[in-house]
Amino acid sequence: MLFRKKKSKTIALYPENVGDTLRHIAFIMDGNGRWAKSRSLPREMGHKKGAAVFEKITLHCFSRGIHAVTVYAFSTENWSRPQNEVDAIMALLSEYLDYAEKKFKDYDARLVILGDKSRLSPELRAKAERIEEISRDRRHVLNIALNYGARDEIVFACNSLIAEGKTTVTKEDISSRLYTAASGDPDLVVRTGGDFRISNFLLWQSAYAEFYFTKTLWPDLTETEVDAAIADFFGRHRRFGGL
Ligand code: FPP
Repeated sequence: MLFRKKKSKTIALYPENVGDTLRHIAFIMDGNGRWAKSRSLPREMGHKKGAAVFEKITLHCFSRGIHAVTVYAFSTENWSRPQNEVDAIMALLSEYLDYAEKKFKDYDARLVILGDKSRLSPELRAKAERIEEISRDRRHVLNIALNYGARDEIVFACNSLIAEGKTTVTKEDISSRLYTAASGDPDLVVRTGGDFRISNFLLWQSAYAEFYFTKTLWPDLTETEVDAAIADFFGRHRRFGGL
């Protein structure tokens, strides 16, 4: 049955067991800067609000039964932003990791950092690795892409296969060496902020993903709009190249 509960009404929209089909949702969280600018606030305030929205949206997706959530928090190119903005994002991530360490157990959630952790501060890296380790056997997955670039990720996967002595590789070999090996490919990629591009995010993994683009700036994203994106996903006919 297709349904969405809205107050006392039930509206036909998507199946109860969302997570059987929509196992993995990924977000390109764009628009924090514009959100702040439109309120005459420093960009850092946009990221602060963005981090709060990220926390809310992630839990909403888990509560819908979605197995894995991936967010693009910081790309390999984002280091070129002003130092105070980089520092503010890193501080928010560190704060979020403290929350994750305490709370993730309640949500049976596992943390995975997608990206090269070697450029992170030793403290942030150690914290992230500690949480990854203690949460590794849990059911849900939260992937945070941090110092992440999809082309780098594919090169890294190929090089690790070469280092293992492989001379030819399969698609499965490459998938198994990507940072997302634990959660698989996203079924749905949502980009906020009004742009229609992928920005070097999950290039290999999104080969058959559905895309949902919205003008809504990330800090304005609500659970209701995420439900609309989910409903939109269930309205599509995925053919995976077939008929
Ligand atoms: C893109 O918006 C957003 C980022 C580069 C950073 C995303 C970071 C957060 C949501 C906060 C920290 C995250 C976690 C996981 C705790 P933009 O700054 O490019 O926005 P603009 O296009 O409007 O300038």
